[in-house]
Amino acid sequence: MLDQNTKVHDESRQGEAFSPAANHSNTYSKKFYIESYGCAMNFNDSEIVASILNDEGFGATRNLEEASLILVNTCSIREKAEQTVRKRLTEFKSAKKANPGLLVGILGCMAERLKGKLLDEEKLVDLVVGPDAYRSLPALIAEANGGQKSVNVLLSREETYGDISPVRLDNNGVTSFVSIMRGCNNMCTFCVVPFTRGRERSRDAYSIVREAQELFDNGYREVTLLGQNVDSYYWTSDSGDETVTFAQLLEKVALLHPLLRVRFSTSHPKDITDEVLHVMAKYENICNYIHLPVQSGSTRILQLMNRTYTREWYMKKVERIREILPDCGLSTDIITGFCTETEEDHQDTMDMMRFVRYDLAYMYFYSERPGTLAARRYQDDIPEDVKKRRLAEVVELHRQNSLAGMQREVGRTFKVLVEGTSKRSADELFGRNDQNKVIVFPKENYQKGDYVMVKVESCTSGTLRGVAVK
Ligand code: SAH
Ligand code: SF4
Ligand code: F3S
Repeated sequence: MLDQNTKVHDESRQGEAFSPAANHSNTYSKKFYIESYGCAMNFNDSEIVASILNDEGFGATRNLEEASLILVNTCSIREKAEQTVRKRLTEFKSAKKANPGLLVGILGCMAERLKGKLLDEEKLVDLVVGPDAYRSLPALIAEANGGQKSVNVLLSREETYGDISPVRLDNNGVTSFVSIMRGCNNMCTFCVVPFTRGRERSRDAYSIVREAQELFDNGYREVTLLGQNVDSYYWTSDSGDETVTFAQLLEKVALLHPLLRVRFSTSHPKDITDEVLHVMAKYENICNYIHLPVQSGSTRILQLMNRTYTREWYMKKVERIREILPDCGLSTDIITGFCTETEEDHQDTMDMMRFVRYDLAYMYFYSERPGTLAARRYQDDIPEDVKKRRLAEVVELHRQNSLAGMQREVGRTFKVLVEGTSKRSADELFGRNDQNKVIVFPKENYQKGDYVMVKVESCTSGTLRGVAVK
């Protein structure tokens, strides 16, 4: 079941090594290898790190053997994520025996959570750098090369890396992430992110628009605006004369070009406004898709989680979305077996899933994280087998829901942005529709980056299949 946990989630990207763009690798004398875990923001951070390291003469490599610096950008969201990283670090530690000059560094949320521990007590790494300290990487590398302990886990109230152009390392050249804010001020009791990422801050709106424009100019056709809670984006210019809300930012990016698709993630149900929904309805190139994590369908559990909405409130929000955006795709995150969860609470979650009929869901069983409010206040009292059984039920219900949702699309025609060649066959392309559903169709003369109208002829629970129509 643990595997099921990751299979159904984004974080299946876990442990990806970035491949350097072809023209990058040979121009640098020193090489770094980076592996990233966790959420899209973390992957995007690795691209910021790559940019900082390029300026220091380090080029990215996919080949571990030629690297003089290994970096692991880590995630602390669940215990399993940390275990995976520990295993990797132990492997790298043995690589150091063969190559004593090699530096190994830990970045990201686990670095922030454990601070110097992995360096001092466990001697697993040479440098420890938290998510707000990447600008100090060059100095820390120099220190570590000189044999010193290098740790910087200071969190910042201002750092957004807004002026740094991320180096796109592992990408399809069509879709890209753009971070618009950092940190999180919500205190969901189960969540470690406010502790590892610090206070919420919004990036300069103009630097975001500039980055999106550059991406478009370089052939990209879709940007996903990223933040832990994008709807609370709020930027004030230095002079204080200008403010930009998330709805306004969305509009600015949408106006760059009709051929640039705009997505965003994540929306906290309490913060998404009608204004955002109306901007989405107004612009064809803002995708009709919202990731609206519910976490639980039980009001009592939602209160314990400090999500600040009730079951009924969430349902009303979903109805409002369907009113303003009738064809909007909806996805969610769900946690099973949170502290004190009863069978009745669990059934409330199942009912919620039947009500919303999510197109996509990332489902987990609760994993207590040290230092979080839940760890301090409540007992992690649901036995693991119960957590996992409930997760299995949630996963199965979601599979049925999403299959039914896919079947409803058969016969419809969608505009698909082509992202690449299908994994199964070189004669087929794949892309996504507005609602974020994956569509596969015969290649003909179409290419990556094209918009193609595709009529859906059949489906599985994860993929629509169709043919291009003129
Ligand atoms: N900012 C986003 C989510 C960030 S973490 C939001 O507010 O929705 C991604 C997901 O991981 C969460 O939505 C939650 O479902 C899950 N998660 C977070 N902490 C967890 C924990 N301790 N155990 C299990 N799942 C957790
Ligand atoms: Fe964690 Fe809640 Fe913030 Fe999401 S909104 S990152 S779940 S504290
Ligand atoms: Fe993980 Fe940190 Fe993202 S804990 S989910 S990498 S913000």
